[in-house]
Order: sequence, then structure tokens, then C-alpha cells
Amino acid sequence: MNERESGSFQPEVERPTRLREYLAELEKRNDKRVASREEQPDGRLIIETREGEKYTIERLTDPEDPRLREAHALMSSEFSEDVMDDLETLQSALAGKVIGSEEDLDTPLQIHIIEREGRVVGTSQSATLKCLDSDGSETGKKMVMVTSLVTEKSTRQTGAGTELWRKLVLDASRSEEISAVVDEAAGKAETFYETVGMRRLFIELEDGTMAEIPYYQSVLADSWNKKTGEPLAGNKPEPLHFSAALLDRETQEMTTQELMSQIRGVMNYDSYQVLGYFKGNRKAFDRHEEILGQDLARLEQFLAQAKDGKVHLLTKKERKESGKTVVDHKSLDD
Ligand SMILES: CC(C)(COP(=O)(O)OP(=O)(O)OC[C@H]1O[C@@H](n2cnc3c(N)ncnc32)[C@H](O)[C@@H]1OP(=O)(O)O)[C@@H](O)C(=O)NCCC(=O)NCCS
Repeated sequence: MNERESGSFQPEVERPTRLREYLAELEKRNDKRVASREEQPDGRLIIETREGEKYTIERLTDPEDPRLREAHALMSSEFSEDVMDDLETLQSALAGKVIGSEEDLDTPLQIHIIEREGRVVGTSQSATLKCLDSDGSETGKKMVMVTSLVTEKSTRQTGAGTELWRKLVLDASRSEEISAVVDEAAGKAETFYETVGMRRLFIELEDGTMAEIPYYQSVLADSWNKKTGEPLAGNKPEPLHFSAALLDRETQEMTTQELMSQIRGVMNYDSYQVLGYFKGNRKAFDRHEEILGQDLARLEQFLAQAKDGKVHLLTKKERKESGKTVVDHKSLDD
């Protein structure tokens, strides 16, 4: 593969072996479609397909970039309005501001686009998150969470989605040591997720059954009533498949505590709000914390049933070949 990394884009942290292997595996899967990948000094990645077509993948950093509007329109064409951020929210998030309390700083959203013949034909949103202990302190591990990824219908099944995924992980790992990629995945795209190395999560129960983590995405950070701290009308936890690729080890298994540290990190980003959002209303702030604490406690109770204290990451094929009874969790679109 003809990838060239220019001097200015050498990673500031050394990528762990498993992460480098992971990125190489994604490349290899697309070898049948991609002739070359060329990393530019400005961070853009130019891809040439075996049919001689070219497209570029890059990270957008300027909230005023007109291509952000195009990326937003592409997302909107795929996802329903109630799960979509509006353009202004995206601009705020790109600048790392808390939605609803813009004076507070938040983890910046990373937005990438695929551009072909001057048009945005793919886009992704992701963030680099810290894993957190039960007292809220950082464990020292960081993960990339992909919050959404979409390619235009005419571009699908040509390898572009895989290239976009690879690029966003590559960019995140330039300045941070990344130990996992995680996603709150919908049911219908499991084939794609597996192509990019993601697996669903299971525990083994006392009787040998493999039971999937009954994951629910908690009420989102912009959906709390500022006066009461209760979810706004119509908002409730949504069932999804928490999926991951572990990049700091050879085996695809982790302890239940490690998983909890990932989920706390995700909820800290997705759902927990700052006091400023509630305009200093401590009671409302405490109530939203209490509700989210209950979500975490429910998950911890489930994980306590793991007979070996471990979480096993399994593909569809691995589940089938395990010879065990498998209980799948149902997401909204299963
Ligand atoms: C999921 C999505 C991003 C995949 O993009 P893409 O550009 O088609 O991705 P790729 O071409 O790299 O596909 C990688 C592999 O997954 C497979 N794949 C992709 N989408 C698939 C689908 N819906 N069903 C079955 N297989 C699929 C591809 O065939 C390919 O496998 P192959 O290499 O064996 O042929 C795209 O279908 C999409 O935008 N879907 C709607 C939004 C969505 O569901 N996003 C994911 C959750 S946020």
C-alpha cells in the first residue's frame, strides 16, 4: 500500500502495536478497492480507487467551513430529526463548547468528510473520551467513540465507509494513546461494524449462557428539563448495541470494571450535564445525576452475574461457533 506520512504528521505518541495492526487490517480489507492512500502535509488523505477515481478524506476544524453545512445535510438525509443536532449545535461542538451552556468547555467533536468531485459524499462524527472510575477520576485510558457515520447512497459498498472509519481513528491516535474504539450501535449495520473490527459485548452467566450487555443510551445531555432535572417529554433511554474494538491487548475481552469505565466515559460525554446548563439550579442538577446513577447501577447489577468477571467481545460468527446458548439484546431497529 502506497501510504506516505509526511514529517509534520508523524504521530506525537507512538501507536501501540495492536492499534497499528488494527489500522493495517482495515487497509487490507479494502485492498481490493483502493489502489493508493496519500497523506498530505495538511492532514488530508487522498485515496485513489482501482477504477482510477479519487476522493479525499479530511477532518473539519473550522466551524465556519461551508462543507460543514453539506455534511450536516447529508446526515439529515439519513437520520431522523429527533436524533440530529442542528447546524449551530455542530458548530458549537466543533469548537468544544457545552450545548446549552456555551461558556463551559466540552470535549470537542471531531467531524470528518469524504469529498469527491467537490461534493461531500460521506461524513462522520466522533470524539476522544476518557475512561472514568466510579469516583469520576480518570483511569488513564482513552477511547475513540464514533457517534455517527454516513456515506451517500451512490457511494455505498465501495469501501468509502471503511476508509472514513480508518481515517478518524488514525487522526485521533496522532496525539492521544487510544486503547479502544467504541460505538453505541444500531442493529441494522452489524455487517459494516464487523468490517471495521467492532464486536458486540457478552458476559457468560453461571449456566454457561452468553448474554449480551443490555445497553441503553441514557437520556442525552441536551434533553434535560432545566428546572426539574427530569428528562424532557419524550426522552427515555434507548436500547442499542454497545460495540467495541480493543486496541491495547491481543485478546478481545476485558473485565467488567473496564467496561464500566468506558461506559462512564461515554455517559459523561453523551448525557451528564454541567451545573451551568441548569442555570445553577442545584436540585435539578442533582436529580439528573441521580437518574444517570440509576442507569449505571442497573448495568453494574447485570455485569455482576458474569461468572468469570469478564466481558467477551464476539462477532456474529464467533457467537455461532461458541456452541453456547446466546441471548441477544434487542435494539430499536432489530
Ligand atoms: C453503514 C454505512 C456507513 C457503510 O458505508 P459504506 O460506504 O457502504 O461502507 P463500505 O463500502 O466500506 O462497506 C464495508 C463493508 O460493509 C458492508 N456493508 C456496508 N453496509 C452494509 C449493509 N447495509 N448491509 C450489509 N453489508 C454492508 C459492505 O458490503 C462492505 O463489505 P465487503 O467489503 O465485504 O463488500 C452506510 O451504509 C450508511 O451510510 N448507512 C446509513 C447510516 C448508518 O447506518 N450508519 C451506521 C451507524 S451510525
